[in-house]
Amino acid sequence: MKVLVYGNGAREHALAWKLSQSKVVDKLFFVNPNPLMEPLGENIAANDFEELAMKSKAQGISLALIGPEVPLAAGIADIMEAHGIATFGPHKAQAWLESSKARAKEFNFRNNIPCASSVTVDDFEDAKKVISEFEPPYVLKADGLAGGKGVLIVENSDSALVEIKSMLGGKFGTSSKKVVIEEFLDGEELSVICLYDGETLLPMDFVRDHKRLLNDNKGPNTGGMGAYSPVMLPEREKKGVFEILREISHALKKEGIRYHGALYIGMMITKDGPKVLEYNVRFGDPETQALMVRLKNDFGKVLESVIKRHLNGVKLRWGENSNALVIASQGYPRSPQKGIEVSNVEELASSINVTVFGGAIAKKEEKLVSDGGRVLTVVATGRDAHERTLAFAKRLKFDAKFYRTDICG
Ligand code: AMP
Ligand code: GLY
Repeated sequence: MKVLVYGNGAREHALAWKLSQSKVVDKLFFVNPNPLMEPLGENIAANDFEELAMKSKAQGISLALIGPEVPLAAGIADIMEAHGIATFGPHKAQAWLESSKARAKEFNFRNNIPCASSVTVDDFEDAKKVISEFEPPYVLKADGLAGGKGVLIVENSDSALVEIKSMLGGKFGTSSKKVVIEEFLDGEELSVICLYDGETLLPMDFVRDHKRLLNDNKGPNTGGMGAYSPVMLPEREKKGVFEILREISHALKKEGIRYHGALYIGMMITKDGPKVLEYNVRFGDPETQALMVRLKNDFGKVLESVIKRHLNGVKLRWGENSNALVIASQGYPRSPQKGIEVSNVEELASSINVTVFGGAIAKKEEKLVSDGGRVLTVVATGRDAHERTLAFAKRLKFDAKFYRTDICG
């Protein structure tokens, strides 16, 4: 089959890399791929989803795998499927589990899914009252999509009110017209990325992202600075996670939320057991990079099982542990330095035996340059995975590089 991988970051590069090894995938197509993923497929230029769907059809593409959340919330799956192209990712009407945190919380409360208590506000006077009733630190979440930057954790009530005022006033555009004020949960995070065929919710192996910019989980939240997999949990917590997955699977079907794609469940393992932090209706970044290098199954066949609703017969098999380290450009997440040359990627990767996925990287006059925040993800497997990702980061020739050194299982 011919497959379109939509999106051009390190997550999509990792998905494409894995699909390029599939026996059932003849050819891959991309839309504006980054220069490191480009050799794996052919570029389709399209100005909108309608044109993309028509060109995909003409190329004989039978499956579209959508990486990012924004096109899903804008209805790319609806348009591709209207043109007869099976799509991995929900329709617009079902993307709200990610695109509205307020609705996702209501879904949890209605279905008794363990999560932090919260109140959604759209008025500053109401917010004042809620803040007076919550304990610090205060967790403030923009309701809508904000590129992973819409969650603020604030230490005192005065700063919380200043932030809420700015959010309601449009700090994240229309995404923060509503703000979810949430109880702070203490613990370690866990990402459980499930494949979903509308019937079976099949979890991939556990993976742990690190959202804060700096070592020791300090600094602002980012899209994710690195991940490792698997994550070993004590038996009791593990049981708790699987119990929550059963509840979510049941709730999805009860509410008629059936789609072909991924459901990412962000959890906090608290002293009272696991609780849901968020849902994403797609694969995570950088979790996907850590998972794809470990997956032993033919990923093309796995995707076919999702589309054909045959997931209940699939058993995922995993290789040795992995570490995925994001190499960002200084200034990230506020204003990353762009246009800074990145050299020696390929020679270095093969000499250290790591896999490199391109993210916010571009080609300028035949040279690779940074083009945004998360420039590369370097991934290694095995016992010395952490050391090898760090050796790569250290020896990479990129003057604006920035990375954490403490991400390991
Ligand atoms: P979210 O997009 O809702 O997952 O939030 C982004 C990040 O903020 C999470 O990965 C956590 O690191 C942190 N976070 C979100 N909600 C909470 C909470 N209730 N308590 C503590 N940390 C949180
Ligand atoms: N790594 C978190 C996310 O993809 O949302």
